[in-house]
Amino acid sequence: MAVVSPPEEAASFATRNRIVCFVNDELSAAVLRKGLEGSNLTIRRGTIRNAIRMLETDTEIFALVTDISGIDDPFTELERLAAVCPPDVLVALIGENREITFYRELMEIGLTEYLPRPLTRDLVLAQLRPKLLGDMAPGLPADRGGHVISICGAQGGAGATSIAINLALQLAETTKAKVALLDLHLQNGETAVMLGVRPGPGLRIALENPMRADTLFLERAAIEINERVCLISADEDLDAQLDITEAGVRHVLGLLRQRFNYIVVDIPVPFPPSIHPVITLSRHVLVLLEAEVTGLRNAHALRTAVTNIAGKDRVFTLLNRADRAGGLPRATIAKALGAEPDMVIPDLGKGMTQAVNLGIPALKHVSKLRRHLAPIVREIAGIGAQRKGWFRRLFR
Ligand SMILES: Nc1ncnc2c1ncn2[C@@H]1O[C@H](COP(=O)(O)OP(=O)(O)OP(=O)(O)O)[C@@H](O)[C@H]1O
Ligand SMILES: [Mg+2]
Repeated sequence: MAVVSPPEEAASFATRNRIVCFVNDELSAAVLRKGLEGSNLTIRRGTIRNAIRMLETDTEIFALVTDISGIDDPFTELERLAAVCPPDVLVALIGENREITFYRELMEIGLTEYLPRPLTRDLVLAQLRPKLLGDMAPGLPADRGGHVISICGAQGGAGATSIAINLALQLAETTKAKVALLDLHLQNGETAVMLGVRPGPGLRIALENPMRADTLFLERAAIEINERVCLISADEDLDAQLDITEAGVRHVLGLLRQRFNYIVVDIPVPFPPSIHPVITLSRHVLVLLEAEVTGLRNAHALRTAVTNIAGKDRVFTLLNRADRAGGLPRATIAKALGAEPDMVIPDLGKGMTQAVNLGIPALKHVSKLRRHLAPIVREIAGIGAQRKGWFRRLFR
């Protein structure tokens, strides 16, 4: 058996931790320095081309983070990088392209992460650090935590609640993580009805008086749907005068984010100002629409509202019940949206409504739903993607 001497052990430890970044602007450098604190980090000036040059002679690294801004054909440079980069080195990129399709292509060829510029510390902490270092930075604020996904419908009945419930269930099933389903329709919320459970007064109390909501609030207000998924919802009278405060919403979300890996939120539209913190903290905001004129018009307005609150890169358009008889053609929808919808779920027939009436999740009743939710789960959790393409052999 080979005995590893202490210096060798130290060297291999250093390699295990060594992250080299090539970036061309001071802001990115500063953000990476802060966000990847605690690793054996080197930050150099340059782009992917400088990274390729370095790897020709120096491959003893654990991860590479490099800028592709200004590179006309990043895939050609990536091929060159793959030729010199050891397969076990994690490769993350930074660039200017904000298109999801570009991100997907990069993920499909085996890159670890892609971050659009301008980099923010939040982005590095939330997206890059866990993938490179498998942890979050020390000393983060107490409310940092679970990944928030907000779901809202551009028109009534677009399927927001159905998608929220089933996405929460499938996310938990796929990732084995703890998932909270938070229904912010306190008066006419349908999540509880669809899941066949009865909520209590806990959520309203917590949202109105954050001082009264401690961690026990979760014990009281969260209804266990299965071993990984909890529902937090309310069933207040329609004539109740609610006094939901922004502080309350922030506090409840903070508590949930400490306890759950994912928080899927069914969001009322239009957004009351008090729930803006939810949008701000969301990593994904799914705007659902159906192939109807009303949906199209509102989807545009809703996307703008989300963008104004949280930024453009969080918003995903989900066309639900696509190809439903009588609906607008796909080309018309793409034209009106200015792009193809990011996600599409076809019309899944009457089984979906039957599930609602039975008070069971549609996932248990409509077998095709799972397949159509899978790409959304993948988008959110970044796992379970098809590992194909020759790059896959080259990049881990
Ligand atoms: N892809 C689909 N195929 C077929 N039926 C669907 C699909 N998605 C949702 N439905 C059905 O459409 C109806 C409305 O769905 P849901 O209540 O989830 O919409 P919503 O956007 O939450 O509505 P609301 O505006 O009332 O909150 C339900 O009966 C649901 O089962
Ligand atoms: Mg609903």
